[in-house]
Amino acid sequence: MQKYRKLNEGAEAVIYASNFLGIDAIIKYRAAKDYREESLDKMLRYQRTKKEAKILSVASQVVSAPKVLFLEKDRIFMQRIKGTNLLAILQANTGVIEKNANLQLQADKNLFSKIGSALAVLHGNNIVHGDFTPANILVDKNSISIIDFGLADISQMIEDKAVDLLLMKRAISNQQYTAFLVAYRKGYNKAPEVIKRLEKIERRGRYQERTLASTTEK
Ligand SMILES: Nc1ncnc2c1ncn2[C@@H]1O[C@H](COP(=O)(O)OP(=O)(O)O)[C@@H](O)[C@H]1O
Ligand SMILES: [Mg+2]
Repeated sequence: MQKYRKLNEGAEAVIYASNFLGIDAIIKYRAAKDYREESLDKMLRYQRTKKEAKILSVASQVVSAPKVLFLEKDRIFMQRIKGTNLLAILQANTGVIEKNANLQLQADKNLFSKIGSALAVLHGNNIVHGDFTPANILVDKNSISIIDFGLADISQMIEDKAVDLLLMKRAISNQQYTAFLVAYRKGYNKAPEVIKRLEKIERRGRYQERTLASTTEK
């Protein structure tokens, strides 16, 4: 992999810049982990790579997400998407995308509506992302793309879908979440069920936090 430029190194995969038959591409490579027994390690890496490629190839037909170009046992060659990840944007501006307050509100609304619509389409196709946070959204001018289907699954479970909402909710402001949710509702007929389940999960969370706090106070 030396001939490729490393773009990112995460816990599970390394991302390299590449070119595939003239197309700007990245390679998502799952390197061997020496803390795992070799045959188990291979099995896990190959399985996860295959699963990610499979879901990504479906997802990229219904929302803006990288197209899978080529698959090997431990690496996916995929289309390279232009743009900056939303987490970096939110952190650089401490949550402010536009300096002017009114423009800011509108910019946020547009952006987070697009994210809500995209998730609605994924869920409508029973694709659960599994790590739906700003770090896995790329923004280029006014368009957004969803990346990192490494924890994604095909699932009809309302609970799994609610967790996608929860992760995003925790990472953004209330106003941003409202814009996101309005679009999600509009785009997905089972949204009310998912939102209800999310409220249930949150109540469970609060209950656990309260009991934890009361046990630690003693
Ligand atoms: N298709 C892509 N196009 C452009 N950049 C990408 C692409 N896939 C990943 N990246 C970059 O690499 C980073 C890590 O990729 P990601 O798939 O999220 O891996 P991890 O599972 O390690 O989080 C992303 O935040 C993004 O900056
Ligand atoms: Mg990621």
